[in-house]
Amino acid sequence: MTVYLNGRFLPLEEAHIPVLDRGFIFGDGVYEVIPVYSRRAFRLAEHLKRLQHSLDGMRLPNPHNEAEWSALINELIARNNGEDQYLYLHITRGVAKRDHAFPQPPVPPTVFMLSSPLAQPAASLLASGVSAVTAEDNRWLRCDIKAISLLPNVLLRQMAVDAGCTETILIRKGNDGADFLTEGAASNIFVVKHGTLLAPPKDNLMLPGITYDVVLEIAAAQGIPHQVRRITQAEVIAADELLLTSSTKEVLPVTTLNGQAVGDGKPGPMFSRLHGLYQTFKHEVMRQP
Ligand code: PDD
Repeated sequence: MTVYLNGRFLPLEEAHIPVLDRGFIFGDGVYEVIPVYSRRAFRLAEHLKRLQHSLDGMRLPNPHNEAEWSALINELIARNNGEDQYLYLHITRGVAKRDHAFPQPPVPPTVFMLSSPLAQPAASLLASGVSAVTAEDNRWLRCDIKAISLLPNVLLRQMAVDAGCTETILIRKGNDGADFLTEGAASNIFVVKHGTLLAPPKDNLMLPGITYDVVLEIAAAQGIPHQVRRITQAEVIAADELLLTSSTKEVLPVTTLNGQAVGDGKPGPMFSRLHGLYQTFKHEVMRQP
């Protein structure tokens, strides 16, 4: 496996960072996960735009322009095996004596990229769906930044695993007592009710998912009824269908929530339709020159 670290492509075993790296010490960094299909990065421009948003959020200048990122990413893809891969891209504020404030003068950022084989979700998962639990979203108020400091997400995801489930669906306590859906511990969540696809609005309380955008674009293009608006916890519990999206899982049906069946407990018609359309969309995009 060949990785990229600070200007060099090298075997994973040879990639090392100093212990004073601020990513290691403070979790002071941001990241991206980009799926690669047929050796081409999917929605690369959108991922790089979100990376810029995250870098702006942490007040770190982008070490590369879009053309440079594109060239580095394509080289990493070429140097690794597999038609379908997923790229992990990670930037930290660099190596400096431990001090919470930014290093002064600034030090070079650490830039790391890794490619792993990307497996399609197993057919059995698509056929039966996955299970989830709900938990209070106790993260910070800048969940739109794809920060590497993921302790809250790690703890929240582990709650699902401890309950024998796949994902934790996060509910934020509203000021007015109306608790509402934000996202999953590492995914975005859609609700389906009476044939309408409902999505929470992109704000500071959730990661603006690239897959989320694709699903909403498909819904708009195909005339599938959809609304982007705040979704209450009660609506999540009473959903006809729940869908989970992410770059590595694409679109998955959530068929059990807190031990209860979602709808009739089987993947529903909205899932089947969107999953099929997503596959078609993906293949069409990959065929474009
Ligand atoms: N996570 N929300 C959170 C908190 C996430 O971590 C992710 C993805 C998403 C979905 O975003 P996208 O569709 O752009 O992948 C939403 C990645 C896959 C990860 O951390 O591994």
